[in-house]
Amino acid sequence: MRLFALADGSLLPALGLGTWKSAPGAVAAAVREALSIGYRHIDCAPIYQNEAEVGQGLAATFAAGVLKRQDLWLTSKLWNNAHAPDQVLPALEQTLADLQTDYLDLFLIHWPVAFAPGVLFPRKADEYRPFTADSCAATWAAMEACVAKGLVRHIGVCNFSAAKLEALCRTATIRPAMNQVELHPYLQQTALIDFCRQQRILVTAYSPLGSGDRPAAMKKSGEPSLLENPVILELAAKHQTTPAQVLIAWGLARGTVMIPKSVNPERLRQNLASTKLQLEAPEMTAIAALDRSYRFVDGAFFTGQGSPYTLETIWDEAERAT
Ligand code: A2P
Repeated sequence: MRLFALADGSLLPALGLGTWKSAPGAVAAAVREALSIGYRHIDCAPIYQNEAEVGQGLAATFAAGVLKRQDLWLTSKLWNNAHAPDQVLPALEQTLADLQTDYLDLFLIHWPVAFAPGVLFPRKADEYRPFTADSCAATWAAMEACVAKGLVRHIGVCNFSAAKLEALCRTATIRPAMNQVELHPYLQQTALIDFCRQQRILVTAYSPLGSGDRPAAMKKSGEPSLLENPVILELAAKHQTTPAQVLIAWGLARGTVMIPKSVNPERLRQNLASTKLQLEAPEMTAIAALDRSYRFVDGAFFTGQGSPYTLETIWDEAERAT
């Protein structure tokens, strides 16, 4: 398995298994299958509402004696309703209990968006909380305390712009190790990746295949398809691979950790085998030309009636017509 290094030299598997949208009834088997064929990195979050089932898959694997906890990289995230400093440790403890583990390798702030404690998804204005540089610094200090307790090895963020990372780095004692953001050929975020590289913050690509299995409410009409893009199809045919393998190989070649989600044994194998595909420089250039700054996961679900958040405050960039 290919490894990428964090700023402190720790190594993590460059390809992991995504678990967003994996149904609770399917994810335990997918985790077991993935680990049995060579995956060593699982990306989780409590808001995926399947961490207990991921934990069952992990426990079954460990019980079979094939792998030990230290053979794996486990990432999970802090949901938006647990940013208050006194909520961070209880949220982490719940995730650890659900995953049936003593520690996480990586614990990420899931969104630069905050809700009132206990609110899974706000329906009215008073269920939101502001996310500011100060609130973020306070949440981060509570995450640092989790590192000090030995419950978490590394901490990081998701969906942070360069501006939000800069603000966080100004007050952080432990610098963020990771920024997990949406990345694929239609949303290449080259400036953000360059910024993170300069800051020695590793980047993970979520929705690398376009997350076609998102709920309908999260989809816009006329979304572009990555898996059917003619350039991607042509490269797949040329290399005798699948389009998904081209997309994953492209991300790995850019030095971004890839976490494609699958619950299908054949596709789990396919995605793992992408690490063997090397794209040539002109092929990378052809894919670079596909960028259209298109977010499949655009954060609009946090901007409903009464919300203090807008797409501009979440991403720190002007709203685009997509
Ligand atoms: P499935 O779980 O049935 O394999 P993303 O990682 O961008 O969120 O995309 C996940 C979606 O892509 C899921 O619908 C998943 O379906 C599908 N998928 C995963 N691997 C592949 C593949 N190799 N080829 C085509 N679709 C895939």
